[in-house]
Amino acid sequence: MYDVIVIGSGPGGYTAAIRAAQLGGKTALVEKDEVGGACLNRGCIPTKALIESVEAWESLKTLPSFGVTVPPGASIDAAKIYERKDRIVKRLTTGVAGLVKSNKIDLLRGTGTLTGKTTVEISDSGGAKNTIEAEKIIIASGAVSALPPIPGAKEPGVITSNEALALKAVPKSIAIIGGGVIGVELATVFSGLGAKVTILEMLDEILPLIDGEIITALKRILKARGIDIFVSAGVKLIETVGSGKKVHYETGGAKGAVEAELVIIATGRKAYTDGLGLEAAGVKTDRGRVLADERQRTSAAGIYAIGDVSSNIQLAHVAMAEGVVAAENALGHSAVMDYSAVPSCIYTNPEIAGVGITEKAARDRGLDVSVGKFPLAANGRAMTMGETAGFVKIIADKKGGRLLGASLLGPHATELIAELTLALRLKATVDDLKAVIHPHPTLSEAIFEAAHDALGECIHLPARK
Ligand code: NAI
Repeated sequence: MYDVIVIGSGPGGYTAAIRAAQLGGKTALVEKDEVGGACLNRGCIPTKALIESVEAWESLKTLPSFGVTVPPGASIDAAKIYERKDRIVKRLTTGVAGLVKSNKIDLLRGTGTLTGKTTVEISDSGGAKNTIEAEKIIIASGAVSALPPIPGAKEPGVITSNEALALKAVPKSIAIIGGGVIGVELATVFSGLGAKVTILEMLDEILPLIDGEIITALKRILKARGIDIFVSAGVKLIETVGSGKKVHYETGGAKGAVEAELVIIATGRKAYTDGLGLEAAGVKTDRGRVLADERQRTSAAGIYAIGDVSSNIQLAHVAMAEGVVAAENALGHSAVMDYSAVPSCIYTNPEIAGVGITEKAARDRGLDVSVGKFPLAANGRAMTMGETAGFVKIIADKKGGRLLGASLLGPHATELIAELTLALRLKATVDDLKAVIHPHPTLSEAIFEAAHDALGECIHLPARK
């Protein structure tokens, strides 16, 4: 008899299991695949590993401007890039398995199915079944790519991010259906590796939740790299033509088509509940997602759900936070999820990061806000790095100066956002940000300058008229 059984070992699941073990719970972690879930094996980590190789390669183009001569014959080797990515993934998954073991958690290999409110049946790949029991169960089964009902979407030559991150060679041309986070990150990877990339997005803008000024700047950068972007483009059919594909789309009544060697579908991910036995345990779902409250409790007493299977924010760091909340509640503590400051990061080049609300969202809500903005073109550190495209934008309540949100475009934006996430969580004001002595010369000074700008007092921008 266990205190806690966790189903699924992604970032949410393994975090929940470790937290439960830290609190003294006898814990089992059930996994049918590699430990680490989509994030480590088919998502965040492999994508970022590939992006780093692409950035290393692209940096060669700028080396002459640093006074560094690139010897002739520089090239990339896609197979080695993929091998490097695989090595990083292996190190991390091995590391997670080690953490699980060191916390004396039983890692049970097989597919977990709820057979009641306290029982989970585990079927291994050989067909053997074994039932285990626990006081509490945490569902952390994640999400899988959602395939839209487009004719031809299930044919060979049409893949999802899973297969895209395991390719052995780079295709000459790729059409990506979906201009969301996965779509633009994979566009960055494959165009950097030499493929001609076209993004087809159904809505009137890519990355619809990101600050509009960032999108305008990003699109200009992506287009300059040769990435074609079609918005308001509803894909109607994926046809096989010779050894390639022809993606037919409609935009404002007009028809168009893009030919490519390979098609990647990146139109969202859906909760993975297949074979979980939710009905047997009385766990309710809403549009396929397991319903969970702010304590991560499902409709069935003693059963919790965390991460992509239940959350409407499908991010690894949210899953980890929910995992801690679920484990603490399962072990008799009282924890509540706080979504007030959730950073979002997009690993394009340059990077995008945001926290809180955007300027448009603030104005749509009728909030009286002040906006502070600082361009990296005026930041000394960015100049020395040769990476001046981008800016920091801060949205604050006009009256009290309280930080409401921030949007960043630029190098290391995904690291810089942590400061603003802390500021938002601590309910800081622009005066607080202004009072913090930032190290010089650093990119982080752009945050400090943007806070000054929100107050109309920026030292390193021309005086406001
Ligand atoms: P998404 O929801 O971000 O974007 C999907 C896009 O596809 C949307 O813009 C949608 O309008 C478009 N679309 C849907 N059907 C379409 C069609 N038939 N034709 C053309 N366009 C269509 O989903 P995505 O990119 O698949 O990512 C899934 C989840 O994974 C998201 O929640 C995302 O936040 C998360 N993720 C996060 C990352 C990060 O934090 N850096 C990296 C990758 C994924």
